Amino acid sequence: MAEANGSAPAVNGRAYQFIDHTFDVVVVGAGGAGLRAALGASEGGLKTACITKVFPTRSHTVAAQGGISAALGNMGEDDWRFHMYDTVKGSDWLGDQDAIEYLVRNAPAAVYELEHFGVPFSRTEEGKIYQRPFGGMTTHYGKGRAQRTCAAADRTGHAILHTLYGQSLRHACEFFIEYFAIDLIMEDGACVGVVALCMDDGTIHRFRAKKTILATGGYGRAYFSATSAHTCTGDGGGMVLRAGLPLQDMEFVQFHPTGIYGAGCLITEGARGEGGYLTNSEGERFMERYAPSAKDLASRDVVSRAMTMEIREGRGVGKLKDHIFIHLDHLDPALLHERLPGISESAKIFAGVDVTKEPIPVLPTVHYNMGGIPTNYHGEVLTKVHGDPDKIVPGLMAVGEAACVSVHGANRLGSNSLTDLVVFGRAAALRAVETIDKGEKQRELAANAGDAAMARFDRLRYANGSSSTAELRGRMQKVMQSNCAVFRTGDVLEEGHTLIHDVWQGASDIRVTDRSLVWNSDLIESLEFENLIVQAVVTMDSALNRQESRGAHAREDFPNRDDVNWMKHSLASIDADKKTVTLDDRPVHTYTMSNDIAYIEPKARVY
Ligand code: FUM
Repeated sequence: MAEANGSAPAVNGRAYQFIDHTFDVVVVGAGGAGLRAALGASEGGLKTACITKVFPTRSHTVAAQGGISAALGNMGEDDWRFHMYDTVKGSDWLGDQDAIEYLVRNAPAAVYELEHFGVPFSRTEEGKIYQRPFGGMTTHYGKGRAQRTCAAADRTGHAILHTLYGQSLRHACEFFIEYFAIDLIMEDGACVGVVALCMDDGTIHRFRAKKTILATGGYGRAYFSATSAHTCTGDGGGMVLRAGLPLQDMEFVQFHPTGIYGAGCLITEGARGEGGYLTNSEGERFMERYAPSAKDLASRDVVSRAMTMEIREGRGVGKLKDHIFIHLDHLDPALLHERLPGISESAKIFAGVDVTKEPIPVLPTVHYNMGGIPTNYHGEVLTKVHGDPDKIVPGLMAVGEAACVSVHGANRLGSNSLTDLVVFGRAAALRAVETIDKGEKQRELAANAGDAAMARFDRLRYANGSSSTAELRGRMQKVMQSNCAVFRTGDVLEEGHTLIHDVWQGASDIRVTDRSLVWNSDLIESLEFENLIVQAVVTMDSALNRQESRGAHAREDFPNRDDVNWMKHSLASIDADKKTVTLDDRPVHTYTMSNDIAYIEPKARVY
């Protein structure tokens, strides 16, 4: 609730009246991670707000299909240690092993919690949670195949998101729906809240909080073709960069092997988990050549590269030989109906294909950002200060795809994302409850708190340059798609560096035509573009800088992983006024949390 009218600072000659709020915790974003954090904080007795630019059940978690990983062992033997081994290996040894241990040890409890919250998981004959195989998941440290992905048909994210929203309404969390977060309020290196626009009535809100938790998702829309929703504009990452803090491992962008050709919509990895397979123009099941053991269920980076090689070597399908087929037509229609109803419908709508009779045309499509806001496994945001690579930024936390914990390292295993959301959403809430003194009065905000945010907002609102937001966004997406793709070379990245910095420079000449404050989608898209472009720039620069191949970062000019020189996280920060990037690094956590599992030594990845 608005507690008082704040001051009305004159910004660029115009005054914006703030409506002030005070909370213990403000969560920005209402996807799986944001909702789990918000419900945990409010359940823990903290006065909690959740700000979201879309209605919670429209958050992008709703689009997650195949499932959530946890070593439940419902369909055969499994163990959290096997899950840990697979996740470290899948990350190509860039994941922080303490965080990975936290993830996989807490995964089973997180899934049972969701079950008890009411998620309608698919069931085995005995009534247990149904689990399907996903890429890169094994038993006995690579020897057997695990069925670890807990599924609600192929609409698992939908089921989880709706359930979490329902649960969060049971507690006293206050929702600010269709509010767009503009910028963080930083004082003396600490985060003390966030400024947001209520899109419905144009009012400006200043939220003061002991902890601000960013759960704003990934920035897939920096690319032209992505499985991500149009709302996936990495708003938290943009705010963090503008606050002078670094983002981590931004060069690692995951391409999902099976986006529908031409449309980009996801065909779940669960389709291959249920027995689907890929073929080239010769009808060959080519994955047998690239990954003789795991075949179509090798990890996503491996499958995406194999598909790209097939197309490059002239064995793509279709008139232009520029895509690949995934077959489900050999599977029992009853199984497709029960386990894959959502993608059967998507294939019909977006590719005109009846999956019981024809293959679906697919292409590797941008799907997930392994990089993001660096955090520890409690969700506390980290920065590097005076050589300390794990310095906690007071008041600021991040969870979900916005964050880089880092459990996914250089490549995320399919279905580890939903686990990440709920495990670390809960962890952040627990940390907030543990560290916040409920009785402690919050310091008054500085007189000019939020003015910098409003100056930027106002500049954009009245921008009268020569390039529309759509033109600039189109240029950015084209550069990222062409110059920072599945395969990369120094020359292509150098060109990409020049081109993407040109777009960034050009952003000063942006034109916004609608000056209003109420439902001004031109202005909102411009704010989103400002968030995207800075992340596109640091992605390109980090990719150019990393001279090795690891996980999703495949450099043809440096084809091998180089653990001696590059087993380290990339850090990238910007000077938003000078439009420059500074690169740095921090060590990978090569230690685990407990003595239950030894540090997993790097070795070659063979599938
Ligand atoms: O293929 C899928 O269903 C996607 C899952 C994921 O990205 O975790």
